[in-house]
Amino acid sequence: MAMMKAVQITKRGGPLEVVELAIPDPKSGQVLLRVEACGVCHGEMVAIEGHHPQMHYPRVPGHEVIGVIEKLGEGVTGWSIGERVGVGWNGGHGEVTGLTMDGGYAEYMVAYADGLAHIPAELSSVEAAPLLCAGVTTFGALKNSIARMGDMVAVLGIGGLGHLAIQFAKNAGFYTVAISRGSEKKSLALQLGAHLYIDTEKEDPAAVLKGLGGAKAILATAPSGDAISEVFGGLAPGGELITVAGTGEPLHISPVHFLNGKRSMRGWTAGVAKDSEETIRYSVLTGVQSMIEEYSLEDAQAAFDRMMSAKAKFRTVLTMTHRDQTR
Ligand SMILES: NC(=O)c1ccc[n+]([C@@H]2O[C@H](COP(=O)([O-])OP(=O)(O)OC[C@H]3O[C@@H](n4cnc5c(N)ncnc54)[C@H](OP(=O)(O)O)[C@@H]3O)[C@@H](O)[C@H]2O)c1
Ligand SMILES: [Zn+2]
Repeated sequence: MAMMKAVQITKRGGPLEVVELAIPDPKSGQVLLRVEACGVCHGEMVAIEGHHPQMHYPRVPGHEVIGVIEKLGEGVTGWSIGERVGVGWNGGHGEVTGLTMDGGYAEYMVAYADGLAHIPAELSSVEAAPLLCAGVTTFGALKNSIARMGDMVAVLGIGGLGHLAIQFAKNAGFYTVAISRGSEKKSLALQLGAHLYIDTEKEDPAAVLKGLGGAKAILATAPSGDAISEVFGGLAPGGELITVAGTGEPLHISPVHFLNGKRSMRGWTAGVAKDSEETIRYSVLTGVQSMIEEYSLEDAQAAFDRMMSAKAKFRTVLTMTHRDQTR
């Protein structure tokens, strides 16, 4: 039996263990991917903490997957062997990649054909991987926000999602404000295109935004109830706070803050393959690129810890070295 290296969560709470598994066979409607890169998203916490009714262990996480089609399962049309594709959070067939089915922290992975996105030659696999979740989520949130060219948009939290959101916002013609803790990320945030940087350790972000007339939209990527609550008052009248951050922490926002100026708050989640393709096309056209720290598959735990420390600049991505397989 042909074997592969993979990284698994064997029980709730982790850790991420390097294991040898049989290379899976694609069933009807599926393809086998030879994985080339997989981004490490904060969303992996859902698999580690097991907060999903269809989640069971062991589970291979990873939902920013780029790979090359190696085998076609029965009935798959429109895709060819050798084509490079991406798989995001919504893996097709109602499955969630790396959660209800095994994901991309592995040398090989099976994926549903209806969950596949085309990857253009302009991007390497490592460059493309973060666009499959961090990219599509922030791109979709901003594209569907009420902000229009020239409006002020603030991005809270500069990590994997936040650093792409800053670039999307700048490229869309928004006056872009980056909000982070401390001064460490200031120069990089400005390099990424932010017009203004707010250090929440020195300044009250709501007061600064309000002083500038208020943000039409605030995109919250920091998974902290306190941090999100702290910025809400920085919305302009009629403005909206969109959270993509997945935190179970409560918010502390008075209803008065909503009714004064008819401000609102809502959430946004990833997207499907077509949305990933749109995000990738826009990124290639505008030069939006993830800043990446590369790790080998075997170092998945270190890559994950680095991401969780909020010190990564800005997305950690796993790469795979495949052994020769005589199959
Ligand atoms: N809605 C969706 O479909 C979707 C998709 C992907 C991810 N997510 C969620 O989006 C969030 C961000 O994911 P990510 O991969 O970008 O994570 P990440 O790389 O870890 O970035 C999160 C950033 O949030 C800030 N932060 C973290 N803890 C904080 C705290 N206690 N107080 C204030 N700021 C804090 C940090 O930035 P600073 O140091 O700059 O403050 C950190 O870099 C996660 O909750 C993830 O689960 C949601
Ligand atoms: Zn994700």
